[in-house]
Amino acid sequence: MDIAGSSALVTGGASGLGEATARHLASRGAQVTIFDRDVTRAAEVADSFGGHYVAGDVTDENDTLAAIECATGNGPLKIVAAVAGGALAGGRTVGRDGTPHDLDSFRKTVDLNLVGTFNTARLAAAAMASNDANEDGERGVIVTTASIAGYEGQIGQIAYGAAKAGIIGMTIILARDLAAVGVRVNCIAPGTMRTRAWDLAPAEMKDNLESKVPFPKRFGRPEEFAALVEHMTTNQYLNGQVIRLDGAIRFDPK
Ligand SMILES: NC(=O)c1ccc[n+]([C@@H]2O[C@H](COP(=O)([O-])OP(=O)(O)OC[C@H]3O[C@@H](n4cnc5c(N)ncnc54)[C@H](O)[C@@H]3O)[C@@H](O)[C@H]2O)c1
Repeated sequence: MDIAGSSALVTGGASGLGEATARHLASRGAQVTIFDRDVTRAAEVADSFGGHYVAGDVTDENDTLAAIECATGNGPLKIVAAVAGGALAGGRTVGRDGTPHDLDSFRKTVDLNLVGTFNTARLAAAAMASNDANEDGERGVIVTTASIAGYEGQIGQIAYGAAKAGIIGMTIILARDLAAVGVRVNCIAPGTMRTRAWDLAPAEMKDNLESKVPFPKRFGRPEEFAALVEHMTTNQYLNGQVIRLDGAIRFDPK
């Protein structure tokens, strides 16, 4: 799949891994549309490289359709990076005081990460289906974003880990479903990546996490995530795959 000349939609593109992806795809010649609920940052980032933006929520059908409409207006929508998501409230299944996990925060976390990603994938794939196929029958590529917490979530990560495990599990099914329309689907499961999501975390916690990464002993860089999105886009035989991007870290139970 050629990046230059394609339209690309990046959800969560106003910050962190999504921002790096948006900038990287734009530097490779894509017309990039950022879809993010943070309108101020979305506008700033998009304007900085001559891109486009739509403000909205990935869990909302109409917002997502509006973002796809904007992206398809800028060229054939061939690349979608579904990056929006994140950990909301954490908590143990049963707290130390015997209180069960709050059901509402569990639902909201699954909604943002799993439902939001599926909503983006289903609507984007439907739009991609009307693209002209290239000589190899390809019409588009979707890259989703899980987390290594979807494999070995830590104590207190039940909601986020379950939501990200859902994204991991969806990958092969999406790839099989969308084979008929020539759309490949791959997923990145990042470890600890240095984005502003970590800005508020205590320094001690960050040092501890860095020390646990076998090599290289540091947080991942957003540009490393963006480079993998590029590879997943251009390597035609990569489909239905989840790749950990984590310096070989395996999370401890806590
Ligand atoms: N940073 C890490 O260490 C790490 C590790 C594993 C997985 N991830 C995943 O990578 C993704 C990006 O993380 P990040 O660290 O870049 O976070 P970030 O907070 O820097 O960026 C997330 C962006 O998504 C947007 N967003 C959030 N909810 C949205 C919604 N409902 N609709 C539209 N936009 C929404 C935010 O406004 C923000 O711009 C997330 O899915 C996160 O779970 C991050």
